Amino acid sequence: MKTYDIVVLKGDGIGPEIIDATLQVLEALAKSMGTFQLNFRFHSAGARYYRQTGVNISPETFAACQAADAILKGPMGLPEVRYSDGTEAGILGGVLRQGLDLYANVRPVRLFPEVISALAGKTFGDINYVIVRENTEGVYFSRGQGEVTSTGVKDVISITRAGTERIVRFAFELARKRQGAPRDNSKRVTCVDKSNVLRSFALFRQIFQEIGEEYPDIEKDYLYADAAAQALVLWPERFDVIVCENFLGDILSDLGAATAGGLGFCPGANLGVKHAVFETIHGSAPSLAGRDKANPIAAILAGAMMLERLGERESAQRIVTAIEDILRKKKVWIDSDGCPIEGTKSVTEEVIRQIEETEKRSQSSVVSS
Ligand code: IPM
Ligand code: MN
Repeated sequence: MKTYDIVVLKGDGIGPEIIDATLQVLEALAKSMGTFQLNFRFHSAGARYYRQTGVNISPETFAACQAADAILKGPMGLPEVRYSDGTEAGILGGVLRQGLDLYANVRPVRLFPEVISALAGKTFGDINYVIVRENTEGVYFSRGQGEVTSTGVKDVISITRAGTERIVRFAFELARKRQGAPRDNSKRVTCVDKSNVLRSFALFRQIFQEIGEEYPDIEKDYLYADAAAQALVLWPERFDVIVCENFLGDILSDLGAATAGGLGFCPGANLGVKHAVFETIHGSAPSLAGRDKANPIAAILAGAMMLERLGERESAQRIVTAIEDILRKKKVWIDSDGCPIEGTKSVTEEVIRQIEETEKRSQSSVVSS
């Protein structure tokens, strides 16, 4: 039986609740599939850990992440835990994304069945695109390095040829595997930038054009980031894959989530050549922590993305289908504030029940056929 070593970082705020939910779903799935095992290795990191120890991650934990087959991570950071420069001390973005060279931040934005979109008239199938956010440079390259003077602070954006080539190529490869945009089934990669204003973005677009020539089968599309913000609200069906710089991807992915039922539905994968971290795109929501109020679906979908990366495609698909099914049957209902009315635990139980039911049905069809 295949065994995967997974480092689990539960994180801050609602992190432990939604990660526990995800682990329960993964355990139930591994049991029902019977073809693989997950070895969870628990480590602490983040804002609470920083408050206790003075560092947000230990060298041992980082080494464990390097050795793992994948990392499952809860949201990290607490608003009151800050460095003296005002930035948050609990967040691991620079440590994991840059430290493990996780250059592609893959953020699917997908409207699930019966989920109320903030956009009038949109239903299941209308919104289904992926934001491919460059994850190691751009504006956030300046993280912790802003030049402080007596009159202000200068943070710089860094766009490199190598960094852009690999993220653009990743986006085109992803588009090849997808079914195209909901509007016309056309496989399309949209380059989102501000090349009308900054040279760094002009280089990004130029490299997109160059690499795009290697992909004659994929449509190329261009939008300035401000216009993209409008288009994501007015015509989300036209999008298939979006590729953009780090900071723009951070912002546009939250905008996209808002059109797909909220942040509680959107997972993210941070992928490199050797390592991979799976998480939600939302934060630690301390005000909801410990109250069984958090929507665990984003975290559970992050678990599905992890299985896909590990090569367990069928298992990943089972999770996604189970979530679609329970939403379609209205077994769970997510309120307009983003919280499941029956609670985190009940959503988790419904997902597990659905996975088990599907498994039973597939067994009986094997027996009867
Ligand atoms: C995200 C988050 C992080 C980011 C924060 C917590 C550092 O907003 O993953 O989108 O800025 O990338
Ligand atoms: Mn963000």
